[in-house]
Amino acid sequence: MSEAGIVIDGVTKRFGSFTAVDNLTLTFADGETACLLGPSGCGKTTLMRMIAGLETPTEGRIIIDGRDVTNLRPRRRNIGMVFQYPVMYQTLSVRENIALPLKRDRSLSAAERKKRVDEVLDVIDLAHRADAYIDELDAGSRQKVAVGRSVARQTKVVLFDEPTTNVEVNAKLTLIRTFKEISRRLKQTAVYVTHDQTEAMTLADKIALMKDGSIIQYDGPTALYQKPASEFGGWFLGNPGMNFIPAQRTEAGLVSPLLPEPLDAPAKLGAGKVRLGIRPEQLLARTEPFKGSVEAKVEDCIVGIAGQLLARLSVASETVKLKTGALPNLRAQDTIHIGFPPEDLLVFEDGVRVT
Ligand SMILES: Nc1ncnc2c1ncn2[C@@H]1O[C@H](COP(=O)(O)OP(=O)(O)O)[C@@H](O)[C@H]1O
Ligand SMILES: [Mg+2]
Repeated sequence: MSEAGIVIDGVTKRFGSFTAVDNLTLTFADGETACLLGPSGCGKTTLMRMIAGLETPTEGRIIIDGRDVTNLRPRRRNIGMVFQYPVMYQTLSVRENIALPLKRDRSLSAAERKKRVDEVLDVIDLAHRADAYIDELDAGSRQKVAVGRSVARQTKVVLFDEPTTNVEVNAKLTLIRTFKEISRRLKQTAVYVTHDQTEAMTLADKIALMKDGSIIQYDGPTALYQKPASEFGGWFLGNPGMNFIPAQRTEAGLVSPLLPEPLDAPAKLGAGKVRLGIRPEQLLARTEPFKGSVEAKVEDCIVGIAGQLLARLSVASETVKLKTGALPNLRAQDTIHIGFPPEDLLVFEDGVRVT
């Protein structure tokens, strides 16, 4: 196999009888930034530790830039890493911390080392604090130094495991911008672990959605959001996640009490349980009835970020989430009218998307 990037080939990791990573196969393309996204405990850190060489797979192989590294020690893998709690040398300055990993590199002259560090300081936007000590920095800047240090060696692969967890929200945005800038400039293959979908959506060329030790879908952010391969993806992504409405097969098509007309049944549909998926922001909502609308009662309603309303509605015997900017005066107990644009409805059978 001569494929560049990172190839995870049938990798399983068991801790005793517990399977943390389950026969996982995936390729992180050369030079791309991939996010590993999934709920806590799904195996993200375990997978990263195996790529880094800190954990050995129970089964399977890991190949980096065409080289089987499964049994190589971490040091020999030429990987940069940033974890949630980076080790930092408090008694060294920002510049010295970044320069440290370069000292081992005999191929660099002192002048080249200095140039490399200056470049990194520029990328992480800390040139003005180059001589400050680590303990004089806030958490966000400290984390930037950790990032700078791990990318300074310009390894082909960099791994980030929830590096913004302990950083306050504004500094988080700056850090994310820094990550983007770094990956653009250095063309490294980056794998970035997060449980935060916004972070994944902003950063990633591709997102690997993970659940229970397996990859559910590996796709671009937009595709993942608009065309989730499974109900899990629809539910996990979005704020709040996708609505799922049960539907029945009839001669006329798929029928639901929430739809005024049957929906064309996809040809590939089998005999499984059918649900229709639609995002809360795709529902049409008005105070008066309109063509194709059904009546809905507002159970509760809160104002979300950016002034949009998030409401829980009961419609027929279903509960549906609505996100709208169109009804600013909406209140609990109101009756409104909602519509499901047929072109936005996704059909899922036994949890898997059919159309
Ligand atoms: N060294 C270990 N020994 C036993 N169980 C572990 C070990 N490391 C991780 N696990 C378990 O494996 C699962 C996945 O953990 P982890 O990879 O840390 O998940 P994530 O990073 O997605 O939150 C969890 O249930 C965790 O308890
Ligand atoms: Mg983790």
